[in-house]
Amino acid sequence: MCGIIAYKGWKDASKVVLDGLKALEYRGYDSWGIATGSEVVKRVGRIGESGNVVISPSSIAIGHTRWSTHGPVTWQNAHPHLDCSGRVAVVHNGIVENYQELKASLSSHRFASDTDSETVSHLIEEKLSIGFEQAIKEAAKLLKGRSAFVAKYENRLAAARKGAPLIVGIGRDEFFIASDISAFFNHTKNVQYLDDNELVIIDEAAHFYSIDSGEKVSKRVVEIDWQPESAEKGSYEHYLIKEIMDQKETLYKAINQDESKIMSVAADINNAYGTFLVGCGTAGKVCMAAEYLFSKVARKHVNSYVASEFPNYSHYLTPKSLIIAVSQSGETADVLEAIDAAKKSGSKVISLLNVFGSTMMRASDQYFMVNAGAERAVVSTKATTAQLAVVTLLAYASIGKLQEGKLLLLNVAEQVNDMLNPRYEEHIKKLAEMLKERSDMYIIGRGINYPMALEAAIKLQETACINAQGFAAGELKHGPLALIDEGTPCIALVANDSVKAEMISNAMEIKARGGFIIGIAPENNEAFDYWLKVPDAGNASPIVNIIPVQMLAYHLALLKGLNPDYPRNLAKAVTVK
Ligand code: G6P
Repeated sequence: MCGIIAYKGWKDASKVVLDGLKALEYRGYDSWGIATGSEVVKRVGRIGESGNVVISPSSIAIGHTRWSTHGPVTWQNAHPHLDCSGRVAVVHNGIVENYQELKASLSSHRFASDTDSETVSHLIEEKLSIGFEQAIKEAAKLLKGRSAFVAKYENRLAAARKGAPLIVGIGRDEFFIASDISAFFNHTKNVQYLDDNELVIIDEAAHFYSIDSGEKVSKRVVEIDWQPESAEKGSYEHYLIKEIMDQKETLYKAINQDESKIMSVAADINNAYGTFLVGCGTAGKVCMAAEYLFSKVARKHVNSYVASEFPNYSHYLTPKSLIIAVSQSGETADVLEAIDAAKKSGSKVISLLNVFGSTMMRASDQYFMVNAGAERAVVSTKATTAQLAVVTLLAYASIGKLQEGKLLLLNVAEQVNDMLNPRYEEHIKKLAEMLKERSDMYIIGRGINYPMALEAAIKLQETACINAQGFAAGELKHGPLALIDEGTPCIALVANDSVKAEMISNAMEIKARGGFIIGIAPENNEAFDYWLKVPDAGNASPIVNIIPVQMLAYHLALLKGLNPDYPRNLAKAVTVK
């Protein structure tokens, strides 16, 4: 994880880097730091909360925002990390898997932190006698694991990419290096993509090399034809509630896609000998929902996997297999590893993404945007429902019924628009008030709403820090029922489908044992102690059923004094395995 930005040029580098760090905060916010030509400033906490930071102007700077892997959240562990002499400064993203071995070989060096990253600055120092460029080449070669670093030495920058993203921005007499384009997009749209196992040395120009062979690599300058959507909070207090409300429009954008692209992906699914949807966290639950949707709508079996486990199943992939990688950020390391595994088997990879220019976009044979717009809160909301809309469209398209799917979803989008009104939010606030002291919560669903029960649990865990667990309703009696006590809150995700009666029976079983049933359903029922009405959305019920939970999680977080945009210990783009 972690975000990296570096600048060399005629502007004030410290300002460029500080602004860039704010854009990269979604990659981690345990601490941040910056090294300029003359000073190193590091702070624990979010850069967004650091107030007015004054750093002397400089023509060169590197900066970092951290999500801790090795070593606790302390000032010492914040990047940049220096060598013993203080001349080499390094910011690093990812993990140096062989850091213990490397550290042992650097026994004469004084280490100031507990991080794996610090080995990089000392490795460079160790080789500095052969020149900075050569030292970078040698150091980069020695690192194992998925990572990327930028090093500053005198008035030079160098960066190496080994599995974690880095992109070089080229301005007029100025250079940027960052984990993603958003960090410098206001300055230049001309970029040079650093590919895996490549490094770049920046003096008066940018020189690219292969890490393995050491040979020069020639690079095209690509002009990015893309405008990042503004991600301002507007009148909202938090990104999370703003993004929940954005779903009034984002669903339409997800549905109104280029139909020929949808048909082409649907044809790929039909032609594949096995389709595998992979994703992590929330996106993984969308993959699971897709499995149900394809079965129900298209009578077709597609497989869904948690991306981190997918490589363990990759033995049976063939060039005729199709992998659909679902990811908001397009940077999630586990999904990238799944893509690597698929590529090794010659399988085709299509990504469903929300961030343009992401690593996954370039690593896939084809990509497809879900069009939810910039999602800033760590907790995914509008990207999730956009992904759900797209997989629903694909299921319908795969049986030649794209228009039917579109009609269903457009109707649902309209209903969501009506649903997201202040009265509805008040009703949810009232429920949050009733639940705010509860530390455990259970969510049940059946059929296409079972994955949504799992997703609802993620929302409540990360946003409201509640020990929430999702279950297939039928599994209750095989264990979880033992956890139900007087007043234990349990959310039942109900739709008007063939499993409704069974869902109600399961809710009744919980109620009989003292559970407090919150029914999320199109109609009220005597099983419910509290009812959150949702539209009757047919096969799109996952979309409407998850929205009230998103809102409930938000209001619970507020009542518990938590920052809903920045859950503790998490980050939006998870670039480590
Ligand atoms: C993190 C985020 C989640 C997200 C997951 C997968 O855990 O906090 O919101 O669902 O990563 O991210 P991706 O960008 O691949 O969808």
